[in-house]
Amino acid sequence: MKTLYQQIDIFNDVPAQSYKQNRINQLSARSGTFTDNIKLPVHRWFKYSAGFSAEWAEQLILKHTTSSPIIVLDPFAGSGTTLLSADKAGAISYGYESHPFVYHIASAKLLWHLDEYEFMELANTVLETAKELSVKLKPPENIPPLLLKCYTSDSLLGLFSLRDAFNNIVTLQQSQGRSAYYDLVWLTITAILRPCSHVGTAQWQYILPNKRKANTLDPFEAYKAKIYEISSDMIFAKHAGFVKSATMYPHDAREQGLLKKASVDLVLTSPPYPNNYDYADATRLEMTFWGEINSWGDLQHAVRRFIIRSSSQHSAAERLQLDQLLADQFVSPIVSELSEVCNDLAEIRLTKGGKKTYHTMVAAYFCDLAKVFLALRPICKTGSTVCFVIGDSAPYGVYVPAEDWLGRLAVSAGFKSFSFEKLRDRNIKWKNRKHRVPLHEGRLWIEG
Ligand SMILES: C[S@@+](CC[C@H](N)C(=O)[O-])C[C@H]1O[C@@H](n2cnc3c(N)ncnc32)[C@H](O)[C@@H]1O
Repeated sequence: MKTLYQQIDIFNDVPAQSYKQNRINQLSARSGTFTDNIKLPVHRWFKYSAGFSAEWAEQLILKHTTSSPIIVLDPFAGSGTTLLSADKAGAISYGYESHPFVYHIASAKLLWHLDEYEFMELANTVLETAKELSVKLKPPENIPPLLLKCYTSDSLLGLFSLRDAFNNIVTLQQSQGRSAYYDLVWLTITAILRPCSHVGTAQWQYILPNKRKANTLDPFEAYKAKIYEISSDMIFAKHAGFVKSATMYPHDAREQGLLKKASVDLVLTSPPYPNNYDYADATRLEMTFWGEINSWGDLQHAVRRFIIRSSSQHSAAERLQLDQLLADQFVSPIVSELSEVCNDLAEIRLTKGGKKTYHTMVAAYFCDLAKVFLALRPICKTGSTVCFVIGDSAPYGVYVPAEDWLGRLAVSAGFKSFSFEKLRDRNIKWKNRKHRVPLHEGRLWIEG
């Protein structure tokens, strides 16, 4: 009788116990050095732009930790970097993420504490069912064009077999209640979608159908390798003394009232920047694959309406009016400078082919962030620390001093003071455009 390790045939004949020790040794060696999140156990399960390093987050949490565990909040938790770092540092943490798909990803990553053997068993059942299905599966009709652009028919067959096997098993088991292990298997499949595509599918943010990748993975092999990675990290996290205490909420950071008043010691986050990055588009491939959307047009309803208005697609879809946004009490502390920038943008857009709605995007962005500070103030303790990793921007070459305006909005919401620690210069998003405005990124420190 084969062990489960041997059944998922990326393993050879070594007994299960030795695998465990091997995997712990390998990961221990690696995590002693300063590493990108994408190489760190658990963080690496899904590639998402975190905004900051998990190791820095852990150090900051430890620095604030006194004799008893502190309470950490990430109101823009994304894929969960802060929360996982808090689990590693032994802090109690909460995360909000209002993008439904990203919330699902982060929630699955926080399941590192589950039993790895049970996860492998379920993942392997899905694989075996998928193999059977792949022999008889006919290509479905009406495959969304995005999937046809991203995959060969063989890859699609493998991926659809995994998806259908997963869905069939979930449906069969539904009467017994869907266990958290399904979310881990869902993440296993979700995380291999980009590596299995032969076209440019860089996470950040666009799909480039004309760009060919050097390495494309076979879906079943990629799936097995991901099971190996996830189960290794589950073993490692427990061995390394992670403490499971993080909680994610599918909550909108602009809304009041989820945590207790004056309960949070440290807010550590990276919000969307006012730089036209579209978080909804960032998961278009994955959401299309799972049938959550059919096309780009569905993103407004499925995602954008829940998130900060930081992209012109968003402000255009909402048909926002600049006058109304600027009259909003939330932006009153910065209204004269904000009006100047937005009115400039309103004029410049008329001279541009794309006529992008950056003028309303910028105004809506600062309205939204003002609400976030107002929602944070009551739940942060007096003397707490708030750190926003943030960058400025220059749509159509008009400079938007994000950290200064955000700091002032925070103070007007009742925080004591703010300062900015610059980390790096940048001009990435706009580098192919005509402007040469120098941009930067850093940490906005706000005193609670
Ligand atoms: C820079 S990313 C954060 C990345 C995160 N540090 C990580 O570890 O992955 C910003 C996140 O804020 C989320 N977001 C946008 N608007 C939000 C809102 N109103 N409430 C909560 N989360 C929101 C986006 O979906 C995105 O995942």
